[in-house]
Amino acid sequence: MSTKTKKLIVANWKMNPETPREARELFGRVKRLAARARAAHVVVCPPALWLPLMRSGVNLELGGQDLSAESVGSGAFTGSVSGAQLKYAGATYVLIGHSERRASGETDELIQRKLRAALRAGLRPILCVGERARDANGDYLQIIRQSLETATAEIPRAHLARLVVAYEPIWAIGEGANGADTPNAFLEQAIFIRRVMSQRLPPKQASALPVLYGGSVNEENAAAFLTIGAADGLLVGRASLGADKFAAIVKAAAERI
Ligand code: PGA
Repeated sequence: MSTKTKKLIVANWKMNPETPREARELFGRVKRLAARARAAHVVVCPPALWLPLMRSGVNLELGGQDLSAESVGSGAFTGSVSGAQLKYAGATYVLIGHSERRASGETDELIQRKLRAALRAGLRPILCVGERARDANGDYLQIIRQSLETATAEIPRAHLARLVVAYEPIWAIGEGANGADTPNAFLEQAIFIRRVMSQRLPPKQASALPVLYGGSVNEENAAAFLTIGAADGLLVGRASLGADKFAAIVKAAAERI
């Protein structure tokens, strides 16, 4: 089974765990379960500092949670980590525009620069988009449209072939969330996202664009997003921090067919 047809299960560890020992332990368990899950492909995005403690494996790659918008590999940018540095530390993917980064001031323009920097470094970008609230008129769709259009503006089509989009409604993310979206609603959002991207990409490429669902994914709802919602994968926060919960999600992806 090629990586393309496998479901992409991305673990966003955020600022967890606190110690390198815990990071190694959790990663070890994820590595073993990924090796058994042939129909799933797992990407672990730990804090950048823990990346060198980890090695990719069978059905398993590493990702960064953010990167500098500067497309140089090094320079006078205090506190920043370049795409090239992430790559040297073992990452092949990188999250871009996560809502928790947007909440600290990232704009769609900055996200576009990060997308370029990621592509230049040879990383596979996972562009996160999603609305803060859903309104009955469907105005929120314009937020998603704008995020996609601005982030990908003027990036050559050929480069966008490596893009992954994660649809994560902000109201469904994290502790204070109202719970996950529904698989049926996700299905519609994914169609909308591919329609918007068909202005940037050739039709075949737009219809093959991987769109993941994220926001309160857990072991109970994962299978429904992958089957009813036809998600190409999942972006998992809280439930990726418990090896047993995460194992159940990966298993749902591996057994869905
Ligand atoms: P959650 O986070 O699964 O804890 O809701 C998802 C995310 O922030 O990517």
